[in-house]
Amino acid sequence: MSDAPFAYDVCIAGTGSYLPEKVLTNADLATLVDTSDEWIVSRTGIKERRIAAPDEASSHMATKAALKALEQAGLAAGEVELIIVATMTPDTFTPATACYVQQALGAKQAVAFDISAACSGFLYAMKVAKRMISSGAYQNALIIGAEKLSAFVNWQDRTTCILFGDGAGAAVLRRSAPGEGAILATDVGTDGSLTNLLNIPGGGSAKPTTAENIGQNLATLFMMGKETFKHAVNRMKESAETVIARAGLTTDDIAMVIPHQANLRIIDAIAERLGVPSERVFVNLEKYGNTSAAAVAIALDEANRTGAIKRGDKIILVVFGAGLTWASAAIRW
Ligand code: UT7
Repeated sequence: MSDAPFAYDVCIAGTGSYLPEKVLTNADLATLVDTSDEWIVSRTGIKERRIAAPDEASSHMATKAALKALEQAGLAAGEVELIIVATMTPDTFTPATACYVQQALGAKQAVAFDISAACSGFLYAMKVAKRMISSGAYQNALIIGAEKLSAFVNWQDRTTCILFGDGAGAAVLRRSAPGEGAILATDVGTDGSLTNLLNIPGGGSAKPTTAENIGQNLATLFMMGKETFKHAVNRMKESAETVIARAGLTTDDIAMVIPHQANLRIIDAIAERLGVPSERVFVNLEKYGNTSAAAVAIALDEANRTGAIKRGDKIILVVFGAGLTWASAAIRW
């Protein structure tokens, strides 16, 4: 899908994020599985991650992140017209997590639904919301990436349990006023021939949880790490290049690349292939691990609130996840 111009430019008017209090360090994980801080840091860059409380669901984290984004945007919950939650760890299969968020916010006017595109979901949501606003259908949208991955991790599998964490990030999109920022270009892609690389095989209609299979941990994350790694590097590099070109920019124009926070080696490889120096690449995975759809949203909020990105900067968001899915956005902040 191209970014043919519509009637209105769309800007990001506010961002927010929420991370649960509980910290799980690499040393803590070494008491659960045969691993070490040295292995995890050298292979992934992750030092610790956050774990939601037992009674804290994705919608609770989403709501907290959303409130901060709304406050920064100066938008009342009652004025929100569209809520899209990107999650692969919904509160319930139905209704959508976005419905719980709508209720918690008191955003009574908003149409609310979820997007399931794994780690790419936040930028899928951004593309959909941008189109909805630029076409004139809605004036604003609240997009959220929220995940409670700790509820779907196999805590006996050292190849995956060290990677993931919980959290939420949000952004308010609305029509831009003259001179404000704009989402310049977006790109989304899918390769359904590679669903086998990264998935939660059980618990859905294909393999419902039964009394017989309940001990097999089928409703937990499975990943073929090495193969996923290669696709992640190639797809994110290509997708970032696509939006840079569509926005009429070159890599020299880019003040900050904010990538999906899955693995520092993936991020370094993309930066090198794009020719972007490391000081122009935003990384926070050492604190939170891979929070899937929330990761790029949390990173965007941190970059925004710490001043790592400034008004007028050209920035690139780029993500990759199960599906396989990938997506990018070029933004004038
Ligand atoms: O968010 C969606 C996208 N996700 C990604 O893009 C993740 C992509 N993949 C990765 O980040 C990496 O492949 C991993 C971090 C998951 C794994 O790193 P790797 O360098 O590909 O390691 P590997 O799977 O090839 O494993 C190397 C060795 C193996 O031992 P042998 O067979 O060489 O004896 C593993 O059994 O490391 C072993 N290993 C571990 N050792 C200590 C695997 N996990 C661990 C562990 N601690 N936690």
